[in-house]
Amino acid sequence: MKIPLVDLKSQYEEIKDEIQGAINRVLDSTAFILGEELAKFEEEFAKFCNTKYAVGTSSGTSALHLALLSLGIGEGDEVITTPYTFTATVETIIHSGAKPVFIDINPRDYNIDVQKLGEFIKKRCKVNSKTNQPTNKQTNQLIRAIIPIHLYGQPADLDPILKLAKKYNLKVIEDACQAHGAKYKGKRVGSIGDIGCFSFYPGKNLGAYGDGGMVVTNDGKMTNKIRMLRDHGRREKYEHLMVGYNYRLDALQAAILRVKLKYLDEWNEKRRKNALIYNELLKDFDVITPYEEEYARHVYHLYVIRIKRRNEIYKFLQGKSIFCGIHYPLPLHLQKVYHRLGYKKGDFPVAEECAKEVISLPIYPELKREEIEYIVETLKEVSE
Ligand SMILES: Cc1ncc(COP(=O)(O)O)c(C=O)c1O
Repeated sequence: MKIPLVDLKSQYEEIKDEIQGAINRVLDSTAFILGEELAKFEEEFAKFCNTKYAVGTSSGTSALHLALLSLGIGEGDEVITTPYTFTATVETIIHSGAKPVFIDINPRDYNIDVQKLGEFIKKRCKVNSKTNQPTNKQTNQLIRAIIPIHLYGQPADLDPILKLAKKYNLKVIEDACQAHGAKYKGKRVGSIGDIGCFSFYPGKNLGAYGDGGMVVTNDGKMTNKIRMLRDHGRREKYEHLMVGYNYRLDALQAAILRVKLKYLDEWNEKRRKNALIYNELLKDFDVITPYEEEYARHVYHLYVIRIKRRNEIYKFLQGKSIFCGIHYPLPLHLQKVYHRLGYKKGDFPVAEECAKEVISLPIYPELKREEIEYIVETLKEVSE
């Protein structure tokens, strides 16, 4: 039995006719950039998230970059996030001109530790009397925003984050790149902070056939700014009001994503069922299975367990044609490229510990019970 980490082929086979119909529709229209197909997808995605606006972007990375720019974040600012995420979260803070500041994750759900966040903000922020903005006491830089990541598909605990944000006048950018359709206290993630960012990288719960992303918000002003910035800063064809980017989502991807969006809830439900099967089969076994917070509807973009001898087990499973992932083997503060931020080993012990033990088992919607049984049996074989 050969089991990939992600199986895009089975999903495509199920919806092939609809996808080909959508592609042909765009080819026949020859409207490849912006246009009706994208406008419709934006409308449908905003409705799905329950936000007023959605703006398609070329990737989750450009969505995050545009979110930061639309909030006016740049040089002299600091943005808080965790070191336990994909590099894009941090990369885009640096691209905006701001400095990333890390808070450790909690070991239960791998999202930002809200208690540590609160302690940090209280200790480090003083409110600048002129700007009424919180300033970092040590550096005098303005702390402007928090980016909670809904890692692996599980919502971060947003209420305490929003409370702190309100008190200290901070913006909240939700990195929902791994959490399409997940809910926090009944609300779709992405719709709860000031702005939410999604990635449509092919392996995501809602994946394009190439790169793609989306920003969602209820703020009309920010939406206008993002629309301009993603399209060379223009309002009309040759009227450029800003120095912008080419960060557009193209019509072919929008048409494909419109087909797939209709299935997203059903696919997420299948992922959740598969997670329950894993939980049940692994329950008496010496591993830490995912903990679903009581406020969360986790959508299991990844099913991540923690296990001792992780690297050895990963290789063994690979030898048996079970392809797992490691998200992530090294927290970002220890990546060479981010040494410039001044952190060192030991600064974020939870992230460092998790990085040694996490392994992502296959969990796509089409994965069958027999395949999960085979994965668990093989896991038990190597662990005994
Ligand atoms: C948490 C997180 N943020 C941002 C991104 C960036 O998205 P993209 O690859 O579409 O640029 C990803 C993609 O993997 C991600 O997982």
